[in-house]
Amino acid sequence: MSQNYPSLFKKYIKHSNEKESALNTIFQFISNYPQESLILDVGCGTGEISHALAQKGHKIFAIDQQDYFQRDPRIQFQKTNVFDFKTNEKFDLIIAAYLFWEIPFERWEELMNLLLNLLKTDGKLLVIDSVNTSPYDNPFFSCNIFSDRSEKENRDLNNYWFDFLKKNNCNFKSNKIKSQVQTKSKEEMLNVLEFFFFDENSQNLFKNQKKYLLEKMRNKKDSNLTIIELEHSMEIINPK
Ligand SMILES: C[S@@+](CC[C@H](N)C(=O)[O-])C[C@H]1O[C@@H](n2cnc3c(N)ncnc32)[C@H](O)[C@@H]1O
Repeated sequence: MSQNYPSLFKKYIKHSNEKESALNTIFQFISNYPQESLILDVGCGTGEISHALAQKGHKIFAIDQQDYFQRDPRIQFQKTNVFDFKTNEKFDLIIAAYLFWEIPFERWEELMNLLLNLLKTDGKLLVIDSVNTSPYDNPFFSCNIFSDRSEKENRDLNNYWFDFLKKNNCNFKSNKIKSQVQTKSKEEMLNVLEFFFFDENSQNLFKNQKKYLLEKMRNKKDSNLTIIELEHSMEIINPK
């Protein structure tokens, strides 16, 4: 991942309420978790989710293969690839936010098993992502600027993630996370959305989307490009 990630992310969240929406959804879910619950934030990035949970008094363990994490004495951080993560702990809750889309589809099953094995008996896994739109799709799934995609196409992509969960014997419940990116101008929007193309992997993944996005932006009036609606989802997964 690019060394630009923290600065692109910072710029993005200044203009987006996505993190707030995701955190509200997480907080609603964990409101009845006791404070001493042990939570793993896997692929924690700069650590917004970990920090917010630590603020509520939960015990947090955060891991990431990159060293973007803003250190916090209340949080145990380990720089590691999730596939190499070794621990004797079992967790009440594992949060994988915007991680799966970065993992090659061939390794999803391995990742899912690995995470489920790290849970206590009644532990739960929260996956927040746009993966339910397909690993090879884009986070602009339900952006208003992409509204000319066919509904059938969207439905097929949606089923991909859910089929994966069913095949892997996961019980799950889904929650929608809606958010907006808002800027003052088209140029600023384009600049902010660079966050989605932060590394080679995402640039390849979203190559066509970027082209499409740029074309759309060029062709639309400023007023239509200063607000973009996004929809992610949070799956609550617990093993059967
Ligand atoms: C899009 S960021 C999301 C960060 C954070 N969860 C959030 O919601 O802000 C994805 C993070 O996953 C990490 N990541 C990707 N693949 C990983 C792997 N195999 N092991 C550990 N971390 C990984 C990246 O380094 C990055 O920080």
